[in-house]
Amino acid sequence: GFDQKLQGKRVLVSAGGTREALDPVRYLSNHSSGKMGIAIAHVAAMLGAEVSLVRTESTLNLPVLPSIDTITVSSAVELNDAMTMQEGQADIIIMAAAVSDYRAEEVAGQKMKKDKTQSKNRLNLSLVENPDILANLPKANHYVVGFAAETQDVVAYAQAKLQTKGADMIVANDVSDRSIGFASEDNAAYLVTQTEVKALEKSNKMIIASQILAAVLIDSRAKKK
Ligand code: PMT
Repeated sequence: GFDQKLQGKRVLVSAGGTREALDPVRYLSNHSSGKMGIAIAHVAAMLGAEVSLVRTESTLNLPVLPSIDTITVSSAVELNDAMTMQEGQADIIIMAAAVSDYRAEEVAGQKMKKDKTQSKNRLNLSLVENPDILANLPKANHYVVGFAAETQDVVAYAQAKLQTKGADMIVANDVSDRSIGFASEDNAAYLVTQTEVKALEKSNKMIIASQILAAVLIDSRAKKK
């Protein structure tokens, strides 16, 4: 059978890309498929954890084990509400979702029409900041892992994010390489904590997920979290 290393632990994971509505038919989003976050949820469940998954609509084509308690959300505000509702029950929180930093200031009630006047060959969208879910999560009573999707200087940005977001660990992945990161089967990452930087070589997201969870277990014990 599986090694029950996470028996008795409650793990809360977010997965997928948020969608920020512009009108009833359009949205702003990103390339996250949810594969990384859902792999973490599955490995945690196989290791005996009680798992809650908050997934976005962009992940709905991926199967999820029925033993995993799942909520589906769309926007960053909805994801924030779901994470805030559930964080109190979690020992380990992993934010693998790709969250839009901004949303439309106003969502049009009807489909926006193309302006056909010659002088109007431009459309300006006004955006407002979304809540920073990871930064706002309480950190005292659980071990909190964030991700960093970067296209350059991944370790330096991850170390900065560890401080600004107050996380215990940042999983930094380079999303400029199409064979890893967004939507691919594989990933490669650096696990950045207060005390070390550990490189994970390119492999399937299920393998990366187990390496992340193994590192979380060791560091959470060391930090008595
Ligand atoms: O889903 P896949 O196709 O498998 O792809 C996986 C992935 C590339 C999406 C994943 O591995 C990943 O990197 N997820 C985080 C993407 C992201 O939003 O990175 P960021 O650097 O913008 O944000 C940093 C951290 O803050 C993340 O943990 C993010 O969830 C969180 N955040 C960001 C903005 C915001 N308003 N609230 C947040 O909580």
